[in-house]
Parts: sequence; structure tokens; C-alpha cells
Amino acid sequence: MSGPGPLFRPYEKLVKIAIMGREFEVPEGNMMLRAMQYLAPEGISYGRFCWNEDCQFCRVVYDLGEGTQPHAAISCKLMVKEGMRIIEMAQEIRYCLRSLNLK
Ligand code: FES
Repeated sequence: MSGPGPLFRPYEKLVKIAIMGREFEVPEGNMMLRAMQYLAPEGISYGRFCWNEDCQFCRVVYDLGEGTQPHAAISCKLMVKEGMRIIEMAQEIRYCLRSLNLK
């Protein structure tokens, strides 16, 4: 697998997010599912994702930090933001991120 190429929207910096309590840095200006692909290129590439709001296999629940309201979203349409925390995720994502050894 080659490095991040045209898969990712152009970015100048990485933003900090957390997935199931672990911190990661991902390219700003990209959707969360792409950010996850940045972290687990093989896993996410082989997932059964439509990338287009149809399959719902990419569902997550996130918040924006301690004490903020949780929101349900589909990660293929969720723009990453500094401090975003993924607190729940669909089984398909969990499986595709298994290389990260998340809780
Ligand atoms: S990847 Fe299918 S709805 Fe997000």
C-alpha cells in the first residue's frame, strides 16, 4: 500500500482525535471514515463501505470533548474536527480497525 495519495483531500496539518479512548492524529479537512483509513489503510479499504450514505456500516457516536453532547453520525459524511472523540462505532468499523487494538 502506498502512502496517502489522492484518497485524501489536501491537508496541511493533522488534528487530534480520540477513538474509543485512544488518541490519534489524522489529516484535517477529511471525513472521519477517510481519517480512519489513514490510520488503518488495509482494514478500511477492505471494509464493506459504500462511502455514500447508503450502507450505514460506518455509523459512529461522537462528542467534542468532556461534558459535550454525544451525536450519532455516519462517518463517511462526518468532517473531522480537533478534539473529536469517537465513543461508539458500528461493528464493521470496529472490525476494520482491528489493527489499532482498540478497547
Ligand atoms: S460508508 Fe456507507 S453510509 Fe457511510
